[in-house]
Amino acid sequence: MSIFYHEDSKMFHLQSKTMSYILQINQGYLAHAYWGKKVNNDQDLSHLLYHEKDDFLDRLPQEYPQYGSGDHRSPSYQVQLVEDGSRITELIYKEHSVIPGKPKLEGLPATYVESEEEADTLIITLEDSYTGLEVKLNYTVYKELDVIARSAHFHNHGEKSLKLLRALSATVDFHDSNYEALYLSGAWSREAYVQRRPLGPGTTSLDNKRGASSHQMNPFLSLVRPNTDENRGEAYGFNLVYSGSFIAEAEVSPFENTRVSIGLNPFDFSWELDVNDSFQTPEAILVYSNEGIGGLSRNYHKLYRTRLARGVHRDKVRPILANNWEATYFDFNEEKIEEIAKVGADLGIELFVLDDGWFGKRDDDTTSLGDWFEDRKKLPNGLENLAKRVNDLGIQFGLWFEPEMISPDSELYRKHPDWCLHVPGRRRTLARTQSVLDLSRQDVREYLFDMLSGILSRVPISYIKWDMNRFMTEIGSAQWPAEKQQEIAHRYMLGLYELLERITNAFPKILFESCASGGGRFDPGMLYYMPQTWTSDDTDAIERQKIQYGTSIVYPVSAIGAHVSAVPNHQVGRMTPLKTRGDVAMSGNFGYELDLTKFTEEEKVIVKEQINTYKANRSLIQQGDLYRLMSPFEGKGNETSWMFVSEDKSEAILFYFRVLAEPEAPYKRLILHGLDKNAKYKEVNTGQVYGGDFLMHAGLPISPENTDYASLVFKFIQVK
Ligand code: DGJ
Repeated sequence: MSIFYHEDSKMFHLQSKTMSYILQINQGYLAHAYWGKKVNNDQDLSHLLYHEKDDFLDRLPQEYPQYGSGDHRSPSYQVQLVEDGSRITELIYKEHSVIPGKPKLEGLPATYVESEEEADTLIITLEDSYTGLEVKLNYTVYKELDVIARSAHFHNHGEKSLKLLRALSATVDFHDSNYEALYLSGAWSREAYVQRRPLGPGTTSLDNKRGASSHQMNPFLSLVRPNTDENRGEAYGFNLVYSGSFIAEAEVSPFENTRVSIGLNPFDFSWELDVNDSFQTPEAILVYSNEGIGGLSRNYHKLYRTRLARGVHRDKVRPILANNWEATYFDFNEEKIEEIAKVGADLGIELFVLDDGWFGKRDDDTTSLGDWFEDRKKLPNGLENLAKRVNDLGIQFGLWFEPEMISPDSELYRKHPDWCLHVPGRRRTLARTQSVLDLSRQDVREYLFDMLSGILSRVPISYIKWDMNRFMTEIGSAQWPAEKQQEIAHRYMLGLYELLERITNAFPKILFESCASGGGRFDPGMLYYMPQTWTSDDTDAIERQKIQYGTSIVYPVSAIGAHVSAVPNHQVGRMTPLKTRGDVAMSGNFGYELDLTKFTEEEKVIVKEQINTYKANRSLIQQGDLYRLMSPFEGKGNETSWMFVSEDKSEAILFYFRVLAEPEAPYKRLILHGLDKNAKYKEVNTGQVYGGDFLMHAGLPISPENTDYASLVFKFIQVK
């Protein structure tokens, strides 16, 4: 049991491996008492109780606060009584239960357990007696990970219609304000840059209103102590299992405590809650680490790799792929594709992926999304024939789709002009010359399911790249009534999740990779259906060091798609050595995205070696524990290094990258982490044997070649 209830003090104590999370029922309100390093349950916790009388609600640390009756901070939720327009509710403790395991979240992606022993769930029911509104707060605590999964479930048990105006997933009121906010922001082709800044009085607010989790702001907020670094100190993470618009806030009150909340963006959101209706919020994953940001990441990685991702590919090493996008863009034919696939097969590639441009009249990005039948000019013998020919080379065949989109210049649009998100009488703003299909509509989802399952049943496809290349504008649906128009953005996400659930269940053997112009939807919601993600459209080996470093703060390496591409690089024009490009891509879920037929014989030797190295180390890289050693976001940003250590610490692989050569470079030693300090390790390339303590305390001497864009790789194996 990891959840204890202290009847006398009315306190709940949730305990995991090294963490405690303590709540109290305080004069009927659900108060937050403590979250941090584990404390023994066998003691009186009641001194944590809060006794203030004046400004009671404005000072009380809470778990799911209301607005309008004394607490002037941002609330977790807001509900309107439709009859009189009032927005005052008061959620008071009603009952609670503790159940082994973790219940499913209907219609939404969420973490799960494989056996009831792995986690316990506390369900606390709060009630507003005046309206009959009931809110159930779910807290699942994973015993072996320092993780709490939280969500809220609303139910109208009363006799009058209600309207949800705000329904966040979780709030935690920290007792002090001595924190810095750490989060991931960016743009297309420079996703997941690590940002860190002190909190101050007022609100640090992260959000997006794009209808996707976005390149610009990942749905992740962490509070770290000012002295927390990669390996030491406290770090608290909040990550939303959701792929649409979100908000994450840290509000420092005049009383110097900090309220952190995360959930659906309340901007342009409302939801009708008629008598007997329910509403389930997305899940928020709260992680605690006392081993710095690295410890926070390893908790997220393990949870997401093993209890968020699903399906037959979850625990399998992923195939090395070759994708033709940067090789050909839209300009290809059957012969060209076959040539690339053939060279790939000879080099040891395991999967060939045909990207955009195979359907309709898609010679550029202005047309044909929605017309998912092969372009016979490019593929005269059809998709099935091409897939079989690729299979005959001894490798798998994968295909690109962008199912959620529609080009105005398409047969589908001409037939169903009302199938895209739009508002009557208003412009239909295009982005990349396309509109967003209205996935809040059942008929649109049926069409997509039939279209996809038709192709997947006919063509031997082992992998799908599920792309999505624009954000939502003019959010409205022709199918839903006026009162529900502010529900459409969320109904879209629910519709998308329903479609993904159906299609991944119908084709369980297919490996799905999500993509949204690179990392525009790199979020836990997508990882539930698709265990890997295309991390960024920027494939430059130097830019990628930052992007992959930042992404790894939350997301597991098995999910981080990383490809070797051509030089000069197509995004930034940089010339980097093939070795460095290979080493950076090998630090993720590895592949190639360039015209393989253009490799010289010398390059082919290097590529074969890279492929063999990755095959020999991919379980270590994809499933091992990640330790980041040097950050491209710190100091001069000239060096980046990370290592992967097997769970039993018997082997490790280390990557070191330096951007610019340094004249008179100082003598360098890299301090390693995660090894067994009592064991001896042999570095495979040099045969040199080191003590684990030596590598982690004194450090590994390194001397990178004095050129720009250098990279080094070291492989360690434990020896007796
Ligand atoms: C955006 C993706 O991120 C690229 O990899 C590629 O698939 C293009 N879309 C194709 O249009």
